[in-house]
Amino acid sequence: MLVYLNGDFVDEKDAVVPVTDRSFLYGDGCFEGIAVFNGRILHLGEHVERLFRSAAALRINLPMSEAQLTTRIVQTAFLNGMDRSPSGYLRPMVSRGSGRMGLKYSEELKDPTLVIVPQLGGREIAYGTEIPVLTAVTTSFVRPGPASLDPRIKSHNYLVNILAYFEARDRGCDVGLLRDDRGHVVEGHVTNIFVVRDNKLLTPPESAALAGITRRFVLQSARTLGYECCEVDIGPYDLQTADEVFCTSSLEALAAISSIDGIPVQGPVPGPVTRVLREHYVAWARETGTEVVDIAEKASRAAG
Ligand SMILES: Cc1ncc(COP(=O)(O)O)c(C=O)c1O
Repeated sequence: MLVYLNGDFVDEKDAVVPVTDRSFLYGDGCFEGIAVFNGRILHLGEHVERLFRSAAALRINLPMSEAQLTTRIVQTAFLNGMDRSPSGYLRPMVSRGSGRMGLKYSEELKDPTLVIVPQLGGREIAYGTEIPVLTAVTTSFVRPGPASLDPRIKSHNYLVNILAYFEARDRGCDVGLLRDDRGHVVEGHVTNIFVVRDNKLLTPPESAALAGITRRFVLQSARTLGYECCEVDIGPYDLQTADEVFCTSSLEALAAISSIDGIPVQGPVPGPVTRVLREHYVAWARETGTEVVDIAEKASRAAG
């Protein structure tokens, strides 16, 4: 695989960053996880925009424009054969850079480190016809809120999420739900969460959870399809009285939740609303997205 690293495409084995890189030292960086399906990159513009916003909130200046990064991501996909691959994953990552250890050197670092790592395969189930069914538990972990690390920043600090995942696995489940400091359930360890009750969709607000790109798409399509949607606090009551619960992410699309804390979700799993929204999403994913093409070739053809 070829990895984009600070201006060059290098073989995976040569794609190394210094041990004093800030993401390694402090988790001081941010990233995106982008799905590739049927030779197309899904929601590319939105991922690039979110990466730039995360970096701005962390006061990291990316060494290129949004348009340039978009080109580099498409090139990474093309150079790794993703135009011919049924599915894949692209991970642009940025860290503050490397330099002397110690927070007081934060302003004296070299340029930010910018990496795009590709991975072939693995997303076939997410965008297939069958809906994944997962079990969830409410973990003991509290997601940092806007007063500490704003949930909209997709930062390299995933420790709470990783520990929530381990807790879910220890309890024999797939998804570890995180709460806020008032006890509301805000999201899964790598997914946004939705409750369906009386044909109405409930999901926690963006101030509480990652402003998920799939979440936004699902809210838009649900509204277009005539479902009422509310961005509200979700408590144990909402989960226990739900007709359906599902979760969303770029990498899993929409997955149904069959039980929470060992209590089965009341309605059929996957429920009818989950099915409709998932079908809508998968149909979109099969048709849309940014085509993986040879950008250099395309530019020279356009120039005549
Ligand atoms: C904590 C968390 N919440 C939600 C999501 C879903 O976001 P998106 O739909 O943008 O992939 C992710 C994705 O990685 C995540 O890590």
